[in-house]
Amino acid sequence: MSDFYTLAIESSCDETSAAILNHKKVIALVTATQSVHEQYGGVVPELASRAHQSHIIPVLDKTLKDAGLKLDQLNLLCVTEGPGLMGSLHVGVALMKSVAMTQKLPLIGVNHMHGHVLAHCIEGQYASEIEFPFLCLTVSGGHTQIVYVESPTDLRILAQTKDDAAGEAIDKAAKLFGLPYPGGPWVDKHAQQGDDLKFKFSVPRLDDGQYSFSGLKTSLLYFLQAQVKENLQFIQENLPSLCASFQKTTMDYLLKNFFNWADKMQVKHVAIAGGVSANSYLRKTFLTLGDKKKLKTFVPKFDYCTDNAAMIGITGYFQFQRGYEARNIVPQPRMKF
Ligand code: KG4
Ligand code: ZN
Repeated sequence: MSDFYTLAIESSCDETSAAILNHKKVIALVTATQSVHEQYGGVVPELASRAHQSHIIPVLDKTLKDAGLKLDQLNLLCVTEGPGLMGSLHVGVALMKSVAMTQKLPLIGVNHMHGHVLAHCIEGQYASEIEFPFLCLTVSGGHTQIVYVESPTDLRILAQTKDDAAGEAIDKAAKLFGLPYPGGPWVDKHAQQGDDLKFKFSVPRLDDGQYSFSGLKTSLLYFLQAQVKENLQFIQENLPSLCASFQKTTMDYLLKNFFNWADKMQVKHVAIAGGVSANSYLRKTFLTLGDKKKLKTFVPKFDYCTDNAAMIGITGYFQFQRGYEARNIVPQPRMKF
């Protein structure tokens, strides 16, 4: 098989990432994170687009260098078209449009959430490849979705959140615990030393098979307010167990609904994706529950959990193979599947 090089760019939120794939194999991946947002407790859109502007060319240069390629050796270009922050998306799209024009290459616009799901199809990650159809739990800072994946280009959302995303709920809990932004990795870290059964938080019933996180967040807030009234040091004294208990509640709730859907859809292969799938409790519990149900479980490499351009490259590659036409790409902040 002759080489086929895809260059992809992801800049939908606060990571500037570029990747080069040869068919389905990643040969270079460079991701620059933006620490500027930490002091504000959340991503500041204007600062994010400025940081993308300064990172994007060095990131692209390093990716080409790592792959040992020049722009004129590429076959296909892919870029995240949405969903995401307008100014952030625009930086990646504008760059790739100009590369497409100068190099006369096809440019595919990719849905970021589609990318998280197809990260599992990147070659060389697993002993045996994931098979279609599979069910994917995609959990990130902005989305919580259970996706039925019939083929690389045929995806159906079965369940999602009616309010906050799971990552957003964890980040907000972390803020209440006094932890830095983004809080997910910090909650994970402190939880390692805690007792996950020490505190109980309530989650909504799953009758309609959809998620909701706003009640969980509010119950945590009221619980902490009541405890701190009695003991000003309550959070500091109980931080590991607060993190462990909140993490267990959130992840068990995510997984219970997911495996209900897996039973209903009778899939054999199941996967997790998105930034929250970097969580150690979620990864471990997902594998245990999946094994118990005799399902084949797929947990992505850390580099492919959080936002990265490799997942955009593999998705655009599949779309191009299935005849998607290159067209004028416009950033779509609220893009749906
Ligand atoms: O997919 P992602 O990188 O960006 C979005 O598309 O939103 O996901 C970011 C989310 C944040 O909420 C972050 O706190 C969470 O993923 N996250 C984690 C962990 N690592 C990242 N949450 C829990 N445990 C982790 N280890
Ligand atoms: Zn993401």
